[in-house]
Amino acid sequence: MSSKLNLAEYTKEYVIGIEELDEQHQSFFEMLTKIDAVAPDLYRPMDEDEADDILDILGELRDYALHHFGTEEGYMQEVKYPGLKAQKAAHNKFITDVIRMEAEIMNGSSMPPIKIRNFITEWYGEHILTMDKPFGTFYSKTED
Ligand SMILES: [Fe+2]
Ligand SMILES: [Fe+2]
Repeated sequence: MSSKLNLAEYTKEYVIGIEELDEQHQSFFEMLTKIDAVAPDLYRPMDEDEADDILDILGELRDYALHHFGTEEGYMQEVKYPGLKAQKAAHNKFITDVIRMEAEIMNGSSMPPIKIRNFITEWYGEHILTMDKPFGTFYSKTED
């Protein structure tokens, strides 16, 4: 039993009702648990090997996020969603923040993995609940 895994658990409250996007959101949360595997002690500043592994994971997460944002914005364009511009801005900010974090690690900042994990989990969870979910509601009304 590990309580650590619950840090990034995907729960029903995150379901927005668009299957493809829900699957991508879930995969993203699952990818976050990889951080635990390479740095089992999340609260200790990572050593060089852990930092290398975490940089690989962050790269993967960033690629996946870009892919997901593209898919999601496509759905928004399709129905001329009025919130598209704000979504694009939020998506871009996330990518910029992840790149900044990668740069900090590359420059030898010895942050504990929990800081990275929490930042990503919190941003993503909050974004889904406050921005993607309202889009899911909007989208469902355009379907009939
Ligand atoms: Fe989004
Ligand atoms: Fe999303």
